[in-house]
Amino acid sequence: VSLQPYNSFGIAARAEQLARIGHPSDLLGLMAQPEWGTSPHFVLGGGSNLVITGDVPGLVLKVEIPGRCLVEETAKGWLVEAGAGENWHDFVAWTLAQGWPGLENMALIPGTVGAAPVQNIGAYGVELQDRFHSLDAIDLVTGRSLTLDAAQCGFGYRDSVFKHAPSDERSMGLAGRALITRVRFWLPKPWKPVLGYLDLERKMAETGIHQPGAQQIFDWVVAIRRAKLPDPAVIGNAGSFFKNPTVTPEQCADIIARDPKVVHYPMPDGSIKLAAGWLIDACGWKGKTLGHAGVYEKQALVLVNRGTPERPCTGGEVMTLAKAIQTSVYERFGIRLEPEPVVI
Ligand code: EPU
Repeated sequence: VSLQPYNSFGIAARAEQLARIGHPSDLLGLMAQPEWGTSPHFVLGGGSNLVITGDVPGLVLKVEIPGRCLVEETAKGWLVEAGAGENWHDFVAWTLAQGWPGLENMALIPGTVGAAPVQNIGAYGVELQDRFHSLDAIDLVTGRSLTLDAAQCGFGYRDSVFKHAPSDERSMGLAGRALITRVRFWLPKPWKPVLGYLDLERKMAETGIHQPGAQQIFDWVVAIRRAKLPDPAVIGNAGSFFKNPTVTPEQCADIIARDPKVVHYPMPDGSIKLAAGWLIDACGWKGKTLGHAGVYEKQALVLVNRGTPERPCTGGEVMTLAKAIQTSVYERFGIRLEPEPVVI
């Protein structure tokens, strides 16, 4: 089975077998078969944060569980639930249309609801963990249902237990061990806009709208993302390819002394976050191509597929480009950039 339609990079790797999970019972049916224990399996959501570097052995589980509903509304907020297979952006738009604001800063992030907690998606000042309530999952070894709250998901910056291997003792990881079936969000009342991000401040200044509603913020975020990020339906990509690194104030002062323009943000814990896109851009990578993989011309943090549908870039080409970028950033700034997507 070709995985090309199922990953936003458009990489043409193949899966030995692919099963669509439309309901948790589909998974329990597969788990009851004798092959289950002996063949490997990989959980696929929207495939928008994924680099596939070769054919995938065993069974790919494509999560397509539908459904969205209001679980309860209280004086303090709305509790909303969605099936893991729902498209993230459509879900965000739907909550706003129902009059339940809170997810608007995360508009237009590609992928599915079920994949959102895996990397704790975030944008324009709001992260999934800020609106998360709990999720249901199925343990892929025992078949048992699990319900995890935010603490149990171990959220960090573009990180959660679902990105760490079970062998990783530090994190008690669940990578490859759990399939997320449903996610619940808590949208508190009264709604408060999150407007601290520079791009949103610019929109307020440009339009003269200083008290935007949730739908206005949603529209701005959509416009900002369309202007700087490539649409995966047109140019294959997996969003930001590297995490923004954090450094100590001393390291940052060192870099500023050499490169006064470096984009940096102080963090609540005293560390400093640097804009990886700026570091890559400063190394001259913006718009460059290596093999059939390239660096997007409007945002150096995004690697793109510069092949054709017949000869798309391979996962190997993406990783070769990523390594070349990591080497130049390390040589110039002494910083090791960490890839953000899941690499299989
Ligand atoms: N910059 C450059 N050159 C570039 C790219 C960026 O100088 O080629 C500078 C920008 O001018 C800006 C700064 O770097 O001053 C930060 O850029 P931007 O606002 O575009 O945000 P980012 O830090 O590159 C992060 C997230 C995005 C998210 C945006 C908005 C990560 C890894 N990326 O990008 O998330 O949409 O902030 O909140 O944290 C994703 O994770 O896939 C993703 C797209």
